Amino acid sequence: MSEELSLVSETYTGLVLQFRLIAVADIPQVMVLERSAHSHPWRQSSFEDCLNGRQKCWLAEHKGVLVGYVVVTHGGGDAELLNISVSPSYQRKGIGLCLLTHAVNCVKEKADMLFLEVRISNRKAIALYEKEDFFEVGQRKNYYPTVNGHEDALLMARQL
Ligand SMILES: CC(C)(COP(=O)(O)OP(=O)(O)OC[C@H]1O[C@@H](n2cnc3c(N)ncnc32)[C@H](O)[C@@H]1OP(=O)(O)O)[C@@H](O)C(=O)NCCC(=O)NCCS
Repeated sequence: MSEELSLVSETYTGLVLQFRLIAVADIPQVMVLERSAHSHPWRQSSFEDCLNGRQKCWLAEHKGVLVGYVVVTHGGGDAELLNISVSPSYQRKGIGLCLLTHAVNCVKEKADMLFLEVRISNRKAIALYEKEDFFEVGQRKNYYPTVNGHEDALLMARQL
């Protein structure tokens, strides 16, 4: 872990967040948040993959309550943001911004670019990424499943 990585952060609304890596015992609680935040949630095994190896899942807790998490990985000079989720009752309080900043700080010594994919309809996530200097680098047609079919993915990147 980088010595510069701050494990405590304060949102612009004054919420103090504590960051820590996911542990096995956290997975049920993480799955509850994942299902509440996404129309097509990750499987439990995707979080289990974060327990070892390069894929890191950082949890954000406020007063001991899980309020969000971010999953980031790196390799070959690039990094990828794989998941970022904030509990619906804690959204629009600056937690997503703090999680993204934390993810950037985690990988900036290990990679030059941070990439991500987002549903083209996910306006709030795209607004967050644009605010943090991500730009569009491409699209993938019909990449994500929807209730009725598929939708495109926007590929975004920012320099680290
Ligand atoms: C996307 C997500 C992580 C944002 O987290 P958040 O804690 O609500 O975001 P923040 O409060 O830090 O917002 C930061 C900025 O993002 C943008 N933003 C966030 N929510 C927004 C919304 N509902 N509408 C428009 N812009 C929004 C704004 O620019 C905002 O800054 P502002 O509040 O000063 O205007 C959260 O909405 C979420 O978990 N969504 C469900 C899961 C998801 O879609 N993840 C991304 C998959 S790629």
